[in-house]
Amino acid sequence: MSKTKGKSLCIFSSKGGVGKTTTTINLAGIFEHLEKRVLLLDLDLSSGGISMALNKPFDKTIYNFVDDYNNNRYKNFNDYITKYDDYIDILPSPKDPRQINKIDSKYIDILIDKAESNYDIVLIDTNHILDEINIVTLDKVDKILFVLSNDPLDLKNLKSIISIFKDSNVTNYRILLNNSRDPYKDYFSLYDIKNIIKANIDYTLTSSFYIKNMDNYVMNGEIITLQNKMPSTFSKDYETLMSIALEALEENVKENLGEENE
Ligand SMILES: Nc1ncnc2c1ncn2[C@@H]1O[C@H](COP(=O)(O)OP(=O)(O)O)[C@@H](O)[C@H]1O
Ligand SMILES: [Mg+2]
Repeated sequence: MSKTKGKSLCIFSSKGGVGKTTTTINLAGIFEHLEKRVLLLDLDLSSGGISMALNKPFDKTIYNFVDDYNNNRYKNFNDYITKYDDYIDILPSPKDPRQINKIDSKYIDILIDKAESNYDIVLIDTNHILDEINIVTLDKVDKILFVLSNDPLDLKNLKSIISIFKDSNVTNYRILLNNSRDPYKDYFSLYDIKNIIKANIDYTLTSSFYIKNMDNYVMNGEIITLQNKMPSTFSKDYETLMSIALEALEENVKENLGEENE
């Protein structure tokens, strides 16, 4: 385990089903290529499926961490971890929906701190709801990756979230347009999208990264970016994910330049 504090990246969106969980898992594979120790922290508390998608049976969850911490039973971060492989670990979301309400947002700060001290990079999967837990998380992490689909409602929602970010001086985010989730949806051109959201699109996953047999990978608990052929078959999208990963490891994030381009 690394001694210096690692980085955290929260994958967020204003709509469900845009490819957050898939992107989070794919990024974990990229960090493995970079030989970084990764924690997948599943903060999609109500419907989190990271451990399910990776086919890993688990015992302890975020709930156990919070509960133990609250009752002075916490000893080792490792006690709550489910191992995926030599580089990737998972801290799953609670199994029982009744446990979610017991996760006080004040522990999220501590949780992310502990995670950063134990890993090179902490990837945080979320849901699209702006609740207390997500607000604390967005405030806490080093960087935010906002996943956007080419969809009118999603663009509208993002526009309002960007103005909230602006009002709260949040500048440490990047926007990823995900054209791979739904390759037939392309209502708007990149130019239109930039005009609607009044911000830059920093990264784009192309429609060729649509994986037809995606469910097979999920059934087998496989990570697409760790497949041998991935870097050559999807070279452009592999490079995009690599750029996102490398930027997440950087010390300082530059401001989103969207405003200056207006
Ligand atoms: N590149 C892709 N190719 C094919 N299917 C995808 C792709 N990305 C996402 N999906 C599918 O779209 C659905 C939603 O993706 P998911 O990552 O779960 O979104 P979110 O976490 O934002 O709700 C899932 O069934 C997933 O398998
Ligand atoms: Mg998800």
